[in-house]
Formats: sequence, structure tokens, C-alpha cells
Amino acid sequence: MKKLFLFFCIGFFACQSEKKDITNVEIGERTDPHSFSEPEKAVVKHLDLELAVDFSSHIISGRATWDIQNVSEADSIVFDTHQLKIDKVTLDGSADSAEYTLGQEHKILGRALTIKITPDTKKVSIWYKTAEDAAALQWLNASQTAGKKHPYLFTQSQAILARTWVPCQDSPGIRFSYKAKVTVPKELMALMSAVNPQKRSDDGIYTFEQNKPIPSYLMALAVGDIDFKEIDARTGIYAEPGVLKKAAWEFADVGKMVAAAEKIYGPYQWGRYDVLVLPPSFPFGGMENPMLTFATPTVLAGDRSLVNLIAHELAHSWSGNLVTNATWNDFWLNEGFTTYFERRIIEELYGREVAEMQEVIGFNLLKATVAELGAKNDDTKLKGSFENRDPDDGVTDIAYEKGFSFLRVIEKAAGRNVFDAFVSEYFKSHQFQSISTEDFVLYLQKNLIAKDVKISDKVMVSKWIYDPGIPSNAIIPVSMKFKEIDSVIKSWGGSVKPSRLSARMKSTNERLYLISALPDSLSTQDLSVLHREYGFTRSGNTEIQCAWYTLALKSNYEKAYPEIEKYLINVGRRKLVLPLYKEMVKTEKGKKWAREVYLKARPNYHSVTFNTIDELLGDK
Ligand code: BES
Ligand code: ZN
Repeated sequence: MKKLFLFFCIGFFACQSEKKDITNVEIGERTDPHSFSEPEKAVVKHLDLELAVDFSSHIISGRATWDIQNVSEADSIVFDTHQLKIDKVTLDGSADSAEYTLGQEHKILGRALTIKITPDTKKVSIWYKTAEDAAALQWLNASQTAGKKHPYLFTQSQAILARTWVPCQDSPGIRFSYKAKVTVPKELMALMSAVNPQKRSDDGIYTFEQNKPIPSYLMALAVGDIDFKEIDARTGIYAEPGVLKKAAWEFADVGKMVAAAEKIYGPYQWGRYDVLVLPPSFPFGGMENPMLTFATPTVLAGDRSLVNLIAHELAHSWSGNLVTNATWNDFWLNEGFTTYFERRIIEELYGREVAEMQEVIGFNLLKATVAELGAKNDDTKLKGSFENRDPDDGVTDIAYEKGFSFLRVIEKAAGRNVFDAFVSEYFKSHQFQSISTEDFVLYLQKNLIAKDVKISDKVMVSKWIYDPGIPSNAIIPVSMKFKEIDSVIKSWGGSVKPSRLSARMKSTNERLYLISALPDSLSTQDLSVLHREYGFTRSGNTEIQCAWYTLALKSNYEKAYPEIEKYLINVGRRKLVLPLYKEMVKTEKGKKWAREVYLKARPNYHSVTFNTIDELLGDK
């Protein structure tokens, strides 16, 4: 991998009062440390994919034909692959095999596929097969689905797993449009991050088109017993037949969310916005695959209380999918902006009070993450440095919540109207482009700070981006609802007293806050009182279950243990199982139990989740 640094002096933009703050910073590190590709030499523009999905062997096989641009008359083009078996390569539709080499295997990055081309080469075709344990893919047998009748397959490409199911230039800085023809068993439906069918085909063949240029991590495929239900003219829900009604009820506001988002930051650019609700082993809450958000069924709480997840994934249609982080070191640009935008959508639809509660919960998560990592840890900087590491290490609340806090500080310094105009213009002027942190800093300097010097002092841009910890000018969010909960807990004076709080305190946010604000050392008696009054686990709300079970483990509340075991086997969302395992491994006895439960749970987890838990339990 080459390293090409462009050094710029941006002293010009650094105004008097912030001279020390942003001068001589490294600007525009253009190359992606997590990709072997060399786009400055030869780069992909369009993909034509033809795949067959085989559930008996757990293998996808097919052909990826790439339209390429040979930028510098290079004699080769480099793709990323990981765990792929390459069968044949041809150029420009010729029957003859082209010359290629597969580089040495790198544990995290896989192998570079270098193909010999000429200055005139326009198309490169690669015939390949995926491995049985391809990291992006999860093959579920029928018993792991809601319907229990048909198998299921889904992909998760972010951050660098696309290369385990399609040979590609797997960098968020490289965009391409795509077409695909996918053959699946006749009784199943196939969906992609593209224009999708709403009905099953008769022959199991599906064709797709994504005509907007997207980065590789947004390629996605799901195959299963899936039906569709419309919400409004441009939004709808896909799910297994038995889940569809519940999912459509839960997400009834999706159409309104798209309209609210457009009102804040301009037109939705992707045509339709649909949501696919996956089986419970989906490793994330949601994944912003263009036109088709993938979502965990753990947000189907039955009371629409977790729909902020949809607001979040929808917000990525602007921050992330339209304007994309150039490398995974700039991940906060995707997630910080999206967390900010998510809360603006929530505020627009459900009011300031609800948004405030989520901001407080977010800020507490940020403080906890900084405390866990240490306030001087480089991984608490917004600008990440994950070269030679798995970019998955960067998926922490720093990107999300420190990113959010930073944008909140700018919003306050500039005023909401000025800030909104700035963000709308930022999305518009960078649409379908990838951007580095340094590009953003320059854009911010030029288009906001240079216009009003006072903003600079108030914001402290460089501190937020390049220093660890939480800067002193962070705005500490406040929720009156939560203050009320604080005072009730205080009035208990040490041990939990039954109060009438549960009747007034129905919302998920309030319940989550209550659990987090409880004193550390609760007795079994205290927990029984809480359990009786609040019935946290009766809710079927997995966020609340996660918080409650974590507390139960902390306080050795053994009554909850059988439920905890069931929960860990059923739920595969990493964020909702990791805190429990982390708590369990704190004692020898707990660790032994964790291993026993994990033995049963692991077959239900996607690689994203089991790799993290393997590491925690020291099995790998
Ligand atoms: N794009 C992320 C998920 C992701 C991040 C996958 C990094 C792989 C690598 C998605 O938008 C996300 O943030 N999901 C959250 C949603 C939550 C913040 C509402 C999740 O899954 O918990
Ligand atoms: Zn996100």
C-alpha cells in the first residue's frame, strides 16, 4: 500500500484568535489504508454482476464485470478480495484468459488481485466463488428464521467485508453504479441496495439496477421468504410473512420521516426508501444500504419506541450515502453527522423533549466510552488512525456521540438557521463524492468560520478533531424528564421504594435512563421491587432488556439468569449482547457460564458479532 500525503498550510483560514488551533495540519490523506486498490492508476466505474446463490453448499458463484477507467495508462488494475476463489479473468469480452496474480494474504485486508491490462482496456470480467465462511455472508437455516420453513441469506459489507463476496475496489472513496442478475431458489425473493422487486419472480431470477454511484460497502443482498407491504407511494416494508404486519405497524411513520428529513436538508435523492426487517441474528441495529435499509427485528418493540433507528439509517441517505467518508479514519463524518441529523428528524416529528432525552443518553454513552478508553487515548479523537488495524475498532461512540457533540457546538455557535443552510449546501456541493476530515475542515473554515470570526473561538475545531477526550466547550444536554427521575431515585434514599413513577414513566427513553441512573450496588430485594413495578423484561423491548440484564449481572440477580441465556441465544445484534458478555467475564464463575451460553449462541451470530465475542472470551 502506498502512502501519499498532501501537506497544506491552511494558515490562511486560521483566523487570528485560533492561530494555534488549525495551522499546518495534514490535509487530505488521499489513500485508503484499508484497500489494496490504486484508483489513481486505474479505477472502476460500473459493475455488472451475475450471481447464483446456492443454499446447499453455502456458496455464491458468478461473474463480476467491471467497466474501468485506466486513468494513467497503467499496465495493471488492483482489486480487493478476501476469502474469494478466483476461477478466471477476461478482458473486454474476449474468450481468452487474462493474466492475474493474487497477492499474499493479509489477515485483515485479504489479498490484492492484480490484473494485467492495456491502456485501452475497458472491461474486466472476474469469475469467482465465495468461501463457505465468507465474512460478509450469513446463511441461516430454516429454524433460525421467523417462519421456520425456508433458509435465508443476507450480506453485511461495511466496513471492509464487501471484498468477501464481490471482488471490488473496496474503498469508501471509490464509487460505481451497478446492475445485477441474481438466481435464487424459486420459492425465495432476492433484494439488493437497488431498485427492488415487490413480488416474487416465477423462475427465481431477479434483476437489479443502482444507477447512482455508490461505494462498495453499500452493496447488499438478501434472499429469503420475504413479502412486501407499502407504507406510502415511495416507502414500504419487506419482512418474512409472519413479521410483516407487526413491522409495518411499527414503522408506519417512515413516509413522514422522509418528508421531515427533506424539509431539513433537501431532497431525498434515491427514489424509493424501503426497510427490510431481517432475522434476529442481523449483527447491527440497522445498515443504511441505499434504497433499502436493513434493520434488526429487535426494534419491533410493539410501541414504536425504537424508530429513531430508522431515522438514523434514513439520515445516512444524506450523510454517508450521498456524502461519504473518504476512508474509515474519517468514519465520524458518516456517523457523527447521521446521529445529529437523526435527532433533528426526531425533534421535527416527536418534539424537542424526546430529542433531548436521546441527547442525554448519547452524552452519557460518550462519557462512558471516554472513561473506558481513557481520556488520553488516541481512539477518542474524531479523526481516527486505524491503519494496520481492523476498521471495526473504530465503531465506538466516539464517532457517533463525540461527532454529534461537535456538530451541536458548531450549531450553537453559528445559530441553527445559519448552520442548517451550511449543512444543506455541504450535502449539495459534495453529493456523490467522498470527503476526508481535512476536506471538511477546509470547507467549514471557508464557508462558515471565515464568514463570522467569532464562531472560531467558540468552536475550537482542531481540539474536537485532533485531540483526545471531550473538549471543555461541549454542550451538556439536559432533559427535565430525566431530572424528575433523578429526584425520585434520590428520594428513595439508598434502597428502592415502590413509587407511582412507573405509571407516568412509560417511554423507553425514561426506562433506559432510570436503569442507568440506579445506584451500583442494588440488593436482590431492590431488584425484585423494580422487577415487580416496572416489568422491564415483559416489554419485549430488547434495548431495555439489555440494560436490565446488564444490571442484573452486575448485582448477581440470579432470578434473571435463565432469561439472559435465552436472550443471548436469540439476539445476534452485537451492541445488545456485548455488554452482557463483558459483564459476565468479570468473574471466573461468570466467564465459565458465558462460555457455556456462547457455545449455544455462537451458531446464531454473524461473523461481525462472533469475532468480537471470540476475542472477548479469549477463544481465538
Ligand atoms: N452504518 C452503521 C452500522 C455499521 C457501522 C456497520 C460500522 C459496520 C461498520 C449504522 O448506520 C449504524 O450506525 N447502526 C446503529 C444504529 C443506531 C446508532 C441507531 C446500530 O446498528 O446500532
Ligand atoms: Zn450509522
